[in-house]
Amino acid sequence: MNILFELRSRFRTALAPLCDDPAPFAAMVKPAQDAKFGDYQANCAMPLAKQRGVKPQELAREIIGRLDIADLCEPPEVAGPGFINLRLRGDWLETQVQSLVGDERLGVTRAAQSRNIVVDYPSPNVAKPMHVGHLRSSVIGDALYRILKFSGHTVTSDNHIGDWGTQFGMIIYGYKHFLDRAAYDRDAVGELARLYRLVNQLSDYHEAAGGLPDMTQRLAATRAEQKSAEAAPAPTDKTEQEARKKSLRKLSGEATDLQEHVASAERKIAAVDNDAALKSMASSHPNIATAAREETAKLHAGDPENLALWRQFMPACLAAMQKVYDRLGLQFDLTLGESHYQPFLADVVSDLQRKGIAVESDGAVCVFIAGVEAPFIIRKRDGAYTYATTDLATIRYRVEKLHTDTMLYPVDARQGDHFRLLFETARKWGYGDVDFRHASFGTILGDDKKPFKTRSGDTVGLESLLDESVTRARAIVDASDDTKPAGPELSEADRARIAEVVGIGAIKYADLSQNRETDYVFSWEKMLATTGDTATYMQYAYARVCGIFRRGNVDREALRRTGGQIVLDARAERSLAVQLLRFSEAIEQAGSECRPNYLTQYLFETANSFSTFFEQCPVLKAESEALRTSRLLLADLTARIIARGLDLLGIETVEQM
Ligand code: ARG
Repeated sequence: MNILFELRSRFRTALAPLCDDPAPFAAMVKPAQDAKFGDYQANCAMPLAKQRGVKPQELAREIIGRLDIADLCEPPEVAGPGFINLRLRGDWLETQVQSLVGDERLGVTRAAQSRNIVVDYPSPNVAKPMHVGHLRSSVIGDALYRILKFSGHTVTSDNHIGDWGTQFGMIIYGYKHFLDRAAYDRDAVGELARLYRLVNQLSDYHEAAGGLPDMTQRLAATRAEQKSAEAAPAPTDKTEQEARKKSLRKLSGEATDLQEHVASAERKIAAVDNDAALKSMASSHPNIATAAREETAKLHAGDPENLALWRQFMPACLAAMQKVYDRLGLQFDLTLGESHYQPFLADVVSDLQRKGIAVESDGAVCVFIAGVEAPFIIRKRDGAYTYATTDLATIRYRVEKLHTDTMLYPVDARQGDHFRLLFETARKWGYGDVDFRHASFGTILGDDKKPFKTRSGDTVGLESLLDESVTRARAIVDASDDTKPAGPELSEADRARIAEVVGIGAIKYADLSQNRETDYVFSWEKMLATTGDTATYMQYAYARVCGIFRRGNVDREALRRTGGQIVLDARAERSLAVQLLRFSEAIEQAGSECRPNYLTQYLFETANSFSTFFEQCPVLKAESEALRTSRLLLADLTARIIARGLDLLGIETVEQM
């Protein structure tokens, strides 16, 4: 049962005669911040009293009079200015936790309305190795997929890979001109990635070299303007002084930006100039950027040679990505990449034009959204379709073929503008009933608070990151096992397996436990800490509970079948029970708000609540057999909830660490 929902529904009934729309007031029932006020608290009496011009305490008493909750709560109390404090009844709690024992779903209710959801993740661009930037979409997407499915929705994971983009033109150009055949035969994806970087570097070189004189000139001009502005006599008037300060600040900002651009261009030029081989390639391929774009255009136009190359590259690229997915435990129901939608793009554009939603502007076809300056370009001037066109075709496909009513996009916050325009356009196009959500996330930062990079400044490869985490986890597992009081307990194979579970779990949990919108600093020390809000702590907590059963020689399945009764006499028993019963709330909240951190937070609190219980209430040495059984049942439920909760986050557990 979702207790919060149950209480709110009782409040809705009680509030109905007192206002037109009781729902928002009923939603003011919340878990109590402090256990001394009870388990839940309602603060609806204050705003409602204001609306009705009555005294809040009196209204609170009236609400209580109308409230039918005697079966689950002690008589409610009014506190302070009109808070209604709710305390769950002990006997009711006992019956409820008891009912979890035989419940596969551990009390988690199914959503009242089952939705048909597509989660679009991690959708990387193909032919470039997956890097740390793909981590968040993978991990958040997978958690949402699992949580929503468990909540009773029909969920489809669709890996919308970027398999048709401009990177292919670059790779095809690279393949035609710079291929190292032996390297390609050894490691196709590695060689394609090298070609991609090479073509990119040479294009950047020419662009930088071409733009540098103009940029340098602009920098000089800005500096001169800055100097003369600084030299001008200071105005006496206050407003003019402010205006002058503002314009000086603006100039100095512009100068800094330009300076950075110049420096970056100079770096790109020097990197090629200082390498004889690169320099000679650069001079024999002066129009490489245009040429690569033409290769893309040829591919899109169905050129047989380029299409054959594309078909040749894809399997190796997909296999390389699959390796990462396997490691992360990701499974997709669909992998419909951008290429899948190519046949539909022309029709998408003409349909939008026919309906007057898209118009021609400067030779391009665009959708203009009120209040947004930038146009949403669906066909470029050269006739090329865009990321936007494909996403629109994808929406139509999902609605028509999959009957999707909810689309979730766990994608980097930097694509916020794209999704805003996409959703608005889709609504105009007739998909107003679809619940579109950009589950946007921030950037992973390094110690220097800048986007996480390797020491040499490259993006961090996802595979090597996972390897490093497992290596570090292995050291922790070794140290912990080596120092066990009765000597090591784990075999070599156990240790390796546990290190994989701990290493991968640490990375995932560190990501999921953040408010997804905020950037976070990647820290091995923090994410692998054995205490605090980490996967490692949760996994140890789980193993510790399992250890109780091992030591007591308890068969957990049999324990559940004995029909033993749960009693909640001690305060710590009661708190643990309330916590266990709130699993449903945590899952509902994490799923409906697309925020897995509600679930990590819940699990952390559960582990803490168990540890207080375990300190205060002897389990194996309980005073009586009945009490021992009751406490073992609570321990078993705790273990099941932690394991299930972590599983819904895509994190594995082991019984012994
Ligand atoms: N391929 C894109 C990228 O790597 C992400 C795609 C996200 N999904 C989507 N339907 N636009 O940036």
